[in-house]
Amino acid sequence: MQQAYKLSFLQKIIQSQKVKLDVDFCLRLGANFPIIYDLFSQLYPNEDFEKQLENLCKILFIHYNERSEELKKIDIERVKNPDWLLSNNWIGMMLYVNHFSGNLKNFENKIPYLKDLGVNLVHLMPIMDVSENENDGGYSVRNYREVQANLGTIDDLENLSKKLHTEGMAIVLDFVLNHCADEHDWAIKAKNGNEKYKKYFYFHKDRTIPDQFDRELTDVFPQNAPGNFTYIPEINEWVMTIFHHYQWDLNYRNPEVFIEMMDILLFLANKGVDIFRLDAVAFMWKELGTNGLNLPQVHSLLQLIKLCGKIVAPSVAYIAEAIVRPNEIIKYFGENQFQADECDIAYNATFMALCWEALATQNVSLLKISMQNIPKKPLRTTWINYIRCHDDIGLGFEDDFVYSLGKEAHLHRKFLLEFYCYNSPNSWAKGLPFMSNPTNGDARISGSMASLCGLEKAIASKDNYEIVLAVSRINLLHSIILSYGGLPIIYSGDEIGTINDYSFENKLDKKHDNRWVHRPIMNWEKAEFRNDKKTIEYKIFQNLKHLIEIRKKETLFSDYNSIAFEESFDERVLCFLRWNRNNERILVIQNFTSDTIELKYAIFSKLNWEKQFAKDIVSEIEYSTEKVNLKPYGFLWLKE
Ligand code: GLC
Repeated sequence: MQQAYKLSFLQKIIQSQKVKLDVDFCLRLGANFPIIYDLFSQLYPNEDFEKQLENLCKILFIHYNERSEELKKIDIERVKNPDWLLSNNWIGMMLYVNHFSGNLKNFENKIPYLKDLGVNLVHLMPIMDVSENENDGGYSVRNYREVQANLGTIDDLENLSKKLHTEGMAIVLDFVLNHCADEHDWAIKAKNGNEKYKKYFYFHKDRTIPDQFDRELTDVFPQNAPGNFTYIPEINEWVMTIFHHYQWDLNYRNPEVFIEMMDILLFLANKGVDIFRLDAVAFMWKELGTNGLNLPQVHSLLQLIKLCGKIVAPSVAYIAEAIVRPNEIIKYFGENQFQADECDIAYNATFMALCWEALATQNVSLLKISMQNIPKKPLRTTWINYIRCHDDIGLGFEDDFVYSLGKEAHLHRKFLLEFYCYNSPNSWAKGLPFMSNPTNGDARISGSMASLCGLEKAIASKDNYEIVLAVSRINLLHSIILSYGGLPIIYSGDEIGTINDYSFENKLDKKHDNRWVHRPIMNWEKAEFRNDKKTIEYKIFQNLKHLIEIRKKETLFSDYNSIAFEESFDERVLCFLRWNRNNERILVIQNFTSDTIELKYAIFSKLNWEKQFAKDIVSEIEYSTEKVNLKPYGFLWLKE
């Protein structure tokens, strides 16, 4: 379609509106509308697509008009500084509000704690209204416009966001867009046979199509939610439920669904959300004969979201929660004309899983070779670097690299599962197998950072040396996420070494999902020990706090893709280099073993290190490059 046609179509829509639109908005609308038109017509090529597109535009007008002046000011600031996300200043923490502060109102009282550590980006795990029964930790939303009653109200969310903004902090919120709860109004209407709302989901009258889908789609929760369809007795039909039976997949083949969800996203953006974590995006488009993951239409949907957001709320950024193969993850940053124009942030899931792999094997080869082969992400996008989150750890690395190191991939995964979950004799870790599949031996790993690092076992056996080692492992992992390129996100509780919480085993709605073992309630008494030098909490919290302070001062740690893995001449040691435009460099060196290691001088000569010494900016110790020793699980941030 001609550009001129698209713009005259847009003009007609604008003229039919009564709302007032200012210059900023019109410029952004004019610049982005032609692409929206193209994407929308490709996704929804039926006759009434222009009518639907008009509905979409009306939503953009309404939300722009409702957006507060304060938020519009932030919009302008971030448009002027599009690299705001790449800054070394951001330090994130993810947390369940009920586990952290009880509710949204009380969150304000905990801001000083976050500031003490240096956290300025808070990811509030799903807070929107969910059913009281099972709700997959909040990822099954009943009402997207209301907050869970026990956490507060939508006004509390808005007030909290204002407060955080005045403190120079920002807020991340989940947007659970692949599916809604079976108790959502749309699902209830569909269950009652309402044809309009049935089209919001994927319904089938018998098992013919569901059986075909089931042959291709992978089971996300094979143990407690096998299959991808649920029988709905009220209308004697089957509905698609890729995750749990109560999470109904939304049908994005219907443009009305897209418009509804865009409407909700902008409503929440206007409550002051800075970053949306777009949940389970890889699953958003379904097609028979495929595995239903990462289809091209998913990318078109995300590009549309980004473009609509750019018009109404350009300061808002988007995280792709796509825990898929590295070559697929990278596509969520946008390709070709959409490079750096789809999601701004993605989870560095491979890196996370491989850090655990390297700790268990005491060998960094697989980590290094895998990371070196991940395609470069576009500039202006960034990774979330994390060690633990609320989900399990999937061993999602590429088999070919395992084979290239002379190992058998299946046996290697088996070794790791035994190491982390099945109490293998040489292991310090205490985790649980998640979704184990007895037929092929596959499983993922649950467990808190501290327990997987050995703290739980060491405390139980009152072994002081093991405690020291466990704390060193935790500190090492924190050092990695704070120095690698991207946004570090700490899981709440890890900063004080919180071990596994087995109380979920006695809770009816949680006992079948052992991810709850690593979603503990914040222990504020334990947090007080962070100021007592003799304690474990002190040793973890203060180390992390110190690293955060250094990271914030050092702009070399901002993420301009300025990172490269370097030769360490020792398989136990990981080295990567960070640099900036002024040719300043920091060499990060990490020992993944309990050995004391003397570094090879070759590391420095290969890098043409100019000086004969190197200063560790963490300890302020200056080393001669001829003689650098690494303590067990030690790390150095060496500045040239
Ligand atoms: C995401 C969430 C996970 C949830 C799933 C279904 O992967 O991180 O916790 O179970 O989506 O919503």
